[in-house]
Amino acid sequence: MEYYVDIADIERVRAVNDCFPIDGFTTNPAILTRTDRPLSRLFGEYRDYVRETGQRVFIQVTAQDADGMIDQAVRLHAYFGNALVVKLPAVKAGYRACKELKRRGMAVCVTVVHSTMQALMAAKAGADYTAPYISHIDNIGADGVRCVDEIVRAFDRSGYACKVLGASFRTVEQVDKLAIVGCHAVTITPETFDMLIAHPSTDVSMRGFDAGWREKYGEAQITDFLPQD
Ligand code: E4P
Repeated sequence: MEYYVDIADIERVRAVNDCFPIDGFTTNPAILTRTDRPLSRLFGEYRDYVRETGQRVFIQVTAQDADGMIDQAVRLHAYFGNALVVKLPAVKAGYRACKELKRRGMAVCVTVVHSTMQALMAAKAGADYTAPYISHIDNIGADGVRCVDEIVRAFDRSGYACKVLGASFRTVEQVDKLAIVGCHAVTITPETFDMLIAHPSTDVSMRGFDAGWREKYGEAQITDFLPQD
């Protein structure tokens, strides 16, 4: 499964990347309003980061019409290069832009997806990724995890190469369940990365190892006992 960090602050992306095997990071217009840093400077830092790491950056267009979306995507691509995955909303203009941008060979994610049909249409339009919003789907009385399960199965049956990028999580359990139904990718906050691997029993065991070691060997470290020859 691919893992992305869902955040605008590049320092926090770097902090997650230091510890976890990530594939890049994702933003959306709302996320980009939550930073106080000038966007033009931030975008320069994004480009440095993807060049350094070879990872992907997902950026959503802000235009409302298809021509505007295509124009923005082309300009974003000229700046970020092939590291960019352009996010297009799952509305008519977005699907039209998706078809055109795929014709031009650009990587595309159809986002803000709330149904299996929207995802299937994205795959048929050639999208590389489609992003169902799990919590939003739950909040309209449907089931986000079940929706992803259906999308993954439908893509398999139809032979679509489009990857499902699970987004908008509220719990670690949702992320866990998506992995089980074969979701191809998830985008999650830095805090969620920490929660994914946290386990109280691991901490208990670690404290036991440490106490036992210190009792017998004090402050010495394991490498202190390597023979000198
Ligand atoms: C994904 O790419 C989206 O940016 C994100 O997950 C949206 O989630 P939210 O609307 O719950 O913040």
